[in-house]
Amino acid sequence: MAGPKHFLDIDRFEGDTLRDILDVGRSFKAGTPPDGEPQPLAGKALALIFEKPSTRTRVSFEVGIRQLGGDAVVLEPSSTQLGRGETVADTARVMSRYVDAIVIRTVKEAHLLELAEHATVPVINGLTDRTHPCQLMGDVMTFEEHLGAIAGRTIAWCGDGNNMASSWIQAAVRFGFELRLACPEPLSPPQDVLDWAAREGGRVLVTSDMAEALDGADCVVTDVWVSMQDDDKRPDRHNLLRSYQIDDAAMAMAKPEAIFMHCLPAHRGEEVAASVIDGPQSVVWDEAENRLHAQKGILLWCMK
Ligand code: CP
Ligand code: NVA
Repeated sequence: MAGPKHFLDIDRFEGDTLRDILDVGRSFKAGTPPDGEPQPLAGKALALIFEKPSTRTRVSFEVGIRQLGGDAVVLEPSSTQLGRGETVADTARVMSRYVDAIVIRTVKEAHLLELAEHATVPVINGLTDRTHPCQLMGDVMTFEEHLGAIAGRTIAWCGDGNNMASSWIQAAVRFGFELRLACPEPLSPPQDVLDWAAREGGRVLVTSDMAEALDGADCVVTDVWVSMQDDDKRPDRHNLLRSYQIDDAAMAMAKPEAIFMHCLPAHRGEEVAASVIDGPQSVVWDEAENRLHAQKGILLWCMK
């Protein structure tokens, strides 16, 4: 018997499946749900486990499952037995008896994988220290709403080679776009993710030169300099990243019609200038909204 349909990472999917998921998300957004069924998950329950803070992921999944007819239970380890040492595996076995799918945001990817191994219901990656695939689904949807098909286009990532950078690399391969990452050398994306992209024939360039990444790009993306799991590491992060800020001069190196994306939360004056994130090329609020729509596609793929 086939196991549960987990949504763990972009690299585990065929491009066509990811496209189908986005199409479903788009039809909900357009008010024309697949098969004319606005609440296809009626009676289903979704658990959300947050080992780290969240605004967008939590609210968009909670509202999303309710709009699809289901219900949500949100758990923080400190208020559950996970916080007192119950294993992730046992938690997976128990939760599978109550709910129909589990979203988890973890401090360690190993927790996500352990949950997926022992759960008998679908597990969805709501961000780990390594990746953030749900965000990428919303990001691709947002790019295509503004600029058309993403295949063959050029995206420039500037800043930390973090979890978002890894998911962008995986998306570049699966959705067929060119990705140029400008990162300070010590904060380059993980080598195993880059090696995977190279093996898959992806067009992924890593450079420390902002101009090389930004030249003629269709879309400019950045993220915080200090991710949630990085608080106590590398005190030199700000110094390393200072010259990678997206300001007006950086945007001017991209195409005139280029859009600016950021998964949020943002730190104005650090990774992005206020004039850019609050300016006419920024699509960050659409991007945040599209988490809701793209994730409806993910929920349906996992749970129906
Ligand atoms: N972009 C994102 O995942 O935001 P949250 O941390 O608020 O969920
Ligand atoms: N890289 C950021 C993304 C937040 C949505 C972090 O992990 O904190």
